[in-house]
This record gives sequence, C-alpha cells and structure tokens, in this order.
Amino acid sequence: MNPTQLKHWEKVGGWFNYASIYNYFVSRALSGDIIVECGVWKGRSLIYLADIARLSGRGLKIFGIDAWKNDEEQIYRDLRAQDVRAGDSRTVYQQCLDNLAACGFRAGVELIQSDAIVAARFFDDASVSALWLDDSHTHAHMRAEIAAWLPKLGPGAIIGGHDYRLVYEGVKYHFPPERIDQIGTSWLVHLNDLRPAKAPQPGT
Ligand SMILES: C[S@@+](CC[C@H](N)C(=O)[O-])C[C@H]1O[C@@H](n2cnc3c(N)ncnc32)[C@H](O)[C@@H]1O
Repeated sequence: MNPTQLKHWEKVGGWFNYASIYNYFVSRALSGDIIVECGVWKGRSLIYLADIARLSGRGLKIFGIDAWKNDEEQIYRDLRAQDVRAGDSRTVYQQCLDNLAACGFRAGVELIQSDAIVAARFFDDASVSALWLDDSHTHAHMRAEIAAWLPKLGPGAIIGGHDYRLVYEGVKYHFPPERIDQIGTSWLVHLNDLRPAKAPQPGT
C-alpha cells in the first residue's frame, strides 16, 4: 500500500481488536500520563491509541516498543515475504514510521526499537500509568516481561495484553485469577484492584 493513501488506522494491517480497552486506558489517564504499547508491528493499534490520546487533549505520552526484527516468528517472516512479493520492500519498521506519518503522527508518539523486556529499563520506576503487552506470545516470555515491567507501573496503573490463551500461565504467575479480567481475547489487571463498576466490553 502506498503510505500516502493511509488516512486512518483501519487501513493499517494488524490484529487490533481491543479498541474498547484503549478507550478505557485514555479515559482514565491523567494529564501527562505515560501509556506504553509493547508489540507495534505496522502500527495499527498504536495509531488508534495515539489518535484517541491526542483527542483527549491531556498531553498523554505514548510509547510504542517493538524489536522490529521481522524474524521472531514464522508468521512475521511469511507476512514480510508477502509484502516483498507485492513489491513493498520496506522494512516493517519503516512501514510503521510511514503509517504513523501518514496518519499525522510524525511527532507525538515515541517509538523504541528494542526487545520489550530490555526496554523496561528505559523507564523510571512507577512512571507508567497503562501498559499493553502484545509482543511475544509465550507463557515464559509473558512471565519475564511482567516481572520486568511491574516496577515501572505507578500506583493505580493498569496492565493488560492480547491473546490471553497463549500467555495466561505467565499472567497467572503474577496475579491471582480473581484479579484478571478477560475481555474478548485480551486480559487486564488493575494494580490496586479498584476495578470500575463497568469494565470495558470486547470491541473492535
Ligand atoms: C502481534 S504483533 C503486534 C500487533 C499490533 N499490536 C497491532 O495490533 O497492530 C507483535 C509484534 O511484537 C514484536 N515482538 C515479538 N517479540 C518481541 C520482543 N521480545 N520484544 C519486542 N517486540 C517483539 C514483533 O516484531 C511484532 O511486530
């Protein structure tokens, strides 16, 4: 796809089906809060998040973290090969940058190209208000990833991620089942366990 044709996150490829959760992240964020997404790929979910964060007018700081190695799993190798066959030889990282720019986010979103566990070190302790984990989908990775990020989450923060069925053992290692909300294919934990009366519903 020619990046100049992109006007909206919906035109970016990806697996994003948790808009209601991102709406919730932004609705409860305070001025200047930091929201982090681990696992960006071409930017579909990140652009949506950046869009609603900008609309909120609260000066939220949005970070997108991804290794963008394109070879972690067979699915990414296959999708990359598909792009190349279709005549798009840009790296996925470059596609992500182009998608962000085409949607008006040349600035306003910070991308960090790094392993998501290593990247936790770049954040101050207790500085993150909402964290989304959608990078490597294994139980073992999730266990290590939550351990790395927990100190970075502020009081009252929320943490969640996609594809619960692939990572639930890692999530349950850190949180008792009664504290884990399952929303569609995603999971969510309120660190102080003050859950809202009406949790976000599954949505696109
Ligand atoms: C499912 S995709 C993210 C999709 C995106 N959230 C969306 O909905 O549009 C997962 C991404 O995680 C990245 N990834 C996998 N393992 C990683 C790791 N250990 N650290 C950082 N990124 C990783 C892959 O490069 C891939 O781009």
